[in-house]
Amino acid sequence: MAAVSFGHRKYIRPWPILILLSVALLLVLRNLQNLQIRLGLSVYDYLDCFELQRQDSPRTRDLQRLVKCRNRPLRFQRLQHGEFWLLQNLVIGRKSSQVGCTESITYTTNGDYTFFDNLETVVERWGGPVSFAIHAPGYDLNATLDAIQYVRNCLPGSEAISDWVSFHVYFSNQHMPENVPYDEDEVLARPYVCTMADGFLIPPPYTLIDRSDSYKVKANLTYPINVGRNIARQAANTHFIFACDIELYPSLGFVDQFLDMVSQNHSVLALDPSQPRRVYPLAVFEIEARAQIPKNKAELMDLYRKKQAQIFHLKLCSTCHEIPGQQDWLNRTPSIKDHLQLFSMGRREYKFKFWEPFYVSDKTEPLFDERVSWEGQSDKRTQNYDMCLLGYEYYALHPAFLVHSPGIKKLAKTSSNRLKYVEEMNKFIKFKIEPEYRVLYGRNAACTT
Ligand SMILES: *[C@@H]1O[C@H](CO)[C@@H](O)[C@H](O)[C@H]1NC(C)=O
Ligand SMILES: *[C@@H]1O[C@H](CO)[C@@H](O)[C@H](O)[C@H]1NC(C)=O
Ligand SMILES: *[C@@H]1O[C@H](CO)[C@@H](O)[C@H](O)[C@H]1NC(C)=O
Repeated sequence: MAAVSFGHRKYIRPWPILILLSVALLLVLRNLQNLQIRLGLSVYDYLDCFELQRQDSPRTRDLQRLVKCRNRPLRFQRLQHGEFWLLQNLVIGRKSSQVGCTESITYTTNGDYTFFDNLETVVERWGGPVSFAIHAPGYDLNATLDAIQYVRNCLPGSEAISDWVSFHVYFSNQHMPENVPYDEDEVLARPYVCTMADGFLIPPPYTLIDRSDSYKVKANLTYPINVGRNIARQAANTHFIFACDIELYPSLGFVDQFLDMVSQNHSVLALDPSQPRRVYPLAVFEIEARAQIPKNKAELMDLYRKKQAQIFHLKLCSTCHEIPGQQDWLNRTPSIKDHLQLFSMGRREYKFKFWEPFYVSDKTEPLFDERVSWEGQSDKRTQNYDMCLLGYEYYALHPAFLVHSPGIKKLAKTSSNRLKYVEEMNKFIKFKIEPEYRVLYGRNAACTT
């Protein structure tokens, strides 16, 4: 400390200087705090930068400018969905988590643990995000978690399943499981066995359990298929989705074919809000149990000519799955480099009033009516009824298609139990749902459920 001499006073007392120092320190601290706030902001700036600097392909960037969607990472959430508890993104597909909103298309689907045997084929053929909503009331959750571990670890396609499938689990609050996993780590830490001591593969847990022993059957629950469909759709982080039944397998390369098509010709989309809304259905086929699942249209037509493939549900409901111009679609010879294109357009009216199409959409079409159960058998009809009232146009695509898991149903074998639900549901749709939709969407005599 400097000693200053003013006349008779030789030394200054140290405390005023201490006060000065304290004030200076206070100012420095405040500035630091401000700096931190500014730093905080610039972390977000940095994230935006990061967003811009994603290694997106020109096609992805072009499409994102076109449809103006936001990239959104997937994250785990516990949500209420009507009477259901939903563990959304309980297990997240490693690649799906970071996928850009126009980088791919999400195959959204639903089921319970008895449907897991389709997952490997679906994922292998789709090659993009799969959003899978699983109904797991009561102790069915245990079997479901075992099934998740098995398909992620024990199959030749487990890597692809771990990359792409995001699992959502839901159950009614009247049918709570005893224990629910706290997070993804807890699910992935569950013990699993793939092979026996002698090296033989252990059959998947979901093939070992008798369906009649499930909680769902024991508690006489119906399958809330439309709840599952909506959950899977709402969890998707891509702009386009393909809402599909898990037993329907797509032809190869569809995701890229569709995005290329849109990128090469933007007017494939109805971008002007004054245009009628659009969705893009695929033709659906079924094949004989021993037939190889066709990869492309040439293979499909081989089976078709040998009468080993036919329009889906041809014998049960021939008008439920025909696309507009079906015969032309069949006659059109596919070339090796046949680009995907809009093949034909129809509305769900007149000849197509029973059509139950599976299509690519941008998630702006109405949700599925959750009061309709799978047992009631009309689970897709109500949605297409309101889309008809809204004037939706269905642009069928060529040459991509769907094929049902091998095996052709010959006769409708509706159990008397299901028949009871069907009659009740038909009445409910006619006298409750239809009048509601007419109030909401308007009238059009050409539209039916
Ligand atoms: C479900 O799994 C948990 C943990 O693995 C186990 O403690 C419980 O006994 C199982 N419950 C049923 C009903 O199988
Ligand atoms: C389920 O239905 C059967 C036959 O209708 C009935 O005997 C049984 O008590 C019901 N179980 C429950 C849990 O409601
Ligand atoms: C682009 O798509 C629209 C709508 O399908 C079609 O009318 C038009 O001919 C296409 N343009 C080209 C260049 O293919």
